[in-house]
Amino acid sequence: MIRCDTLIRDATVMDGSGGGPVRADVAIAGEHIQAVGQLEDSSAARVVEARGQVLAPGFIDAHTHDDLAVIRAPEMLPKLSQGVTTVIVGNCGISAAPVRLTHGLPDPMNLLGEPEAFRYPTFASYIDAVEGARPSVNVAALVGHTSLRNNQMDSLARAANAPEIDAMGIELKQALCEGALGLSTGLAYLSAYSAPTEEVAALVELLAEEGAIYATHLRNESDSVVPALQEALGVARRCKVPLVVSHLKCAGINNWGHSGELLQTLEESTARQEVGCDCYPYAASSSTLDLRQVDERIRITITWSMPHPEMAGKTLAQIAEAWDLPQADAARRLQPAGAIYHCMSEEDVRAILRHPRTMIGSDGLPNDPLPHPRLWGTFPRVLGYYCREQKLFSLPEAVHKMTGLTARRFGLKNRGQIREGYYADLVLFDPEMVRDAATFEDPVQPSLGITTVWVNGALSYENQAATGRRAGRFLARGTTAKMP
Ligand code: ZN
Ligand code: CU
Repeated sequence: MIRCDTLIRDATVMDGSGGGPVRADVAIAGEHIQAVGQLEDSSAARVVEARGQVLAPGFIDAHTHDDLAVIRAPEMLPKLSQGVTTVIVGNCGISAAPVRLTHGLPDPMNLLGEPEAFRYPTFASYIDAVEGARPSVNVAALVGHTSLRNNQMDSLARAANAPEIDAMGIELKQALCEGALGLSTGLAYLSAYSAPTEEVAALVELLAEEGAIYATHLRNESDSVVPALQEALGVARRCKVPLVVSHLKCAGINNWGHSGELLQTLEESTARQEVGCDCYPYAASSSTLDLRQVDERIRITITWSMPHPEMAGKTLAQIAEAWDLPQADAARRLQPAGAIYHCMSEEDVRAILRHPRTMIGSDGLPNDPLPHPRLWGTFPRVLGYYCREQKLFSLPEAVHKMTGLTARRFGLKNRGQIREGYYADLVLFDPEMVRDAATFEDPVQPSLGITTVWVNGALSYENQAATGRRAGRFLARGTTAKMP
């Protein structure tokens, strides 16, 4: 007879592998999954009747900017309410650690938080802060290339010289020792665009011996996205390091319909190297306001502006009209600012989401007062809209893209699957009801149909509310599992 803390009875188990579903009971003891199967003969302190709802591994958000949010707002409701139990932070070249702000906070590090919130000169001090804050979700972190540049360089508008690269390398190696998953870059941003391929390669090279990973926001996501992808593939292949391409997309009207070519380039590389990508389920991107992305043919919404906070929520077209200026000039006057760009085609988004190498990552911006709805809606939108309604993929496949695939790609040990001995990061949801509620007009909306969430065995979310148990922990890099 099994004795356990929680018995989840009669669930439709999708174990994260992409297979299934199977009708089964799942027993939780302490922070682990104790047993999976027909467990009639067991005694549990608490029994949850799943009655045919889907039980999946807790979702892993492959791409986040929650570095400071997990400390500032450790209840992490935007993510917990979606069934997310682990967030990967430090993407797009920007991480909260190791950071020493000696000369201001460069774009786009300002997406993470206010200058005063950057208090982690070493990666180890960041881990301590996360553990001290006890967030409701697990946290694993990449080190940002732009953060390292900002530590070591007086100007980001040039290539790093040899001593600067060496100094960045020392910081990176130290962080890897302390448990960082790998390195991220944000080469499209002006704060890293001047870094030549060789500067990046000198750092990526250091990842190989540690079994760490390289994640990149490509140097270009519009007209030159294919050469930018080739640059990233080349660096990772040369250095023998697994690659994750962040928020893969074809941005800009000129590039609509090019996802086939992009995915083919990715696929061709898989014979020679380990590669994957992440994607959010929307045809609009969001970041700081970038003059190079201003295009009068697409809708751009301003989400915040330092000099003109009153313009938040208005479109750039409306603001330009009110000011009687061309959009490019209005944009210049609004900076620094945040924006949502409706810059992708729905067909391309679907093709990329559907690809078997694509993980789900929200890229949500938790510090934005008017955030892109992906912050609160990504995972239920994939399950509800793209899976149930649009039938883009089966439900076990959708779950795999947010659990098992992601855990293996990032080497998160004993997570991402429902298996005996694995951590009890679990989400119970209603497959007929689950859906996103956040919209571009009203983006701060918890999703519907997420019934119960457990993090490391602790009941963390139910009845549309956090329970107050905050059982997440910092996940140091484990052994990076080889992908098949
Ligand atoms: Zn990015
Ligand atoms: Cu990002």
